[in-house]
Amino acid sequence: MIAIQDASLIFNAGTPNENRVFDAFNLTVKKGEFVTIIGSNGAGKSTLFNLLSGTVMPNTGRILLNGREVTKEPEFKRAKTIGRIFQDPLAGTASNMSLEDNMMVCLKKGFKGLTIGLTQSRRLFFKEQLATLQMGLEERLKDNVGLLSGGQRQALTLLMMVLSTPKLVLLDEHTAALDPRNAEIVLSLTSRFVKEYGLTTLMVTHNMQQAIDLGNRLLMMDAGEVVLDIGAEEKKGLTVEKLVAMFSKIRNKKFTSDEALLSR
Ligand SMILES: Nc1ncnc2c1ncn2[C@@H]1O[C@H](COP(=O)(O)OP(=O)(O)O)[C@@H](O)[C@H]1O
Ligand SMILES: [Mg+2]
Repeated sequence: MIAIQDASLIFNAGTPNENRVFDAFNLTVKKGEFVTIIGSNGAGKSTLFNLLSGTVMPNTGRILLNGREVTKEPEFKRAKTIGRIFQDPLAGTASNMSLEDNMMVCLKKGFKGLTIGLTQSRRLFFKEQLATLQMGLEERLKDNVGLLSGGQRQALTLLMMVLSTPKLVLLDEHTAALDPRNAEIVLSLTSRFVKEYGLTTLMVTHNMQQAIDLGNRLLMMDAGEVVLDIGAEEKKGLTVEKLVAMFSKIRNKKFTSDEALLSR
């Protein structure tokens, strides 16, 4: 599903602010894999997502998505393939539009070029889908999304993303801004959707325990490199302590990052 081959990325090349984020970076992800990604601030996690989305272009190397080379392809051309969710619960939906209108927009993303209207059967479909979130949102089709809580909005964003039938899902700390209870709800919803729809998923989290519990592969990034790549079997016996110890051994330094990284 993903092949990044010898990609390098340099910001502000040739200036005093030159920043080489990736140098001969390689990563392959198979269809259906659910990869969790951890790493210190500035490790390049979000920039990796930007490379995959086409928000930034690599200076050298190739990027393939779903067997197709997209290295030079602009963001809007890949958008249909990719579902990306950010930390900010307000980012994925439009506050001043109703739930049903927001959901129409995501359907249009899925059926590009086709004009579809808000028919009775479509409303019923939205209701059924919202009911699966178990948040009572199926009764609030006409409410503005701005009235929802952060957790409800992030759940709605997830549902809309799934309905737009992406080939690749990129979740960038998508529960980090939620309180623990809502984070838990959105996380279990994430797991359910990934399983139900067999979505190829990359999920960045600052919570190491989360990264261990979810998915079937775990990557740890540091300074633009994947320093640990742990498969499903090895992941089963993993603990936060073991992860931190592995990091120190490989990088010959202490795991320095915010306290949140060690939270469970
Ligand atoms: N648009 C940009 N211009 C310049 N530097 C950038 C840009 N985007 C990211 N960076 C730099 O790339 C590095 C990786 O950042 P990022 O991918 O956001 O880290 P992470 O998400 O792992 O915390 C950082 O040094 C950051 O300052
Ligand atoms: Mg980031």
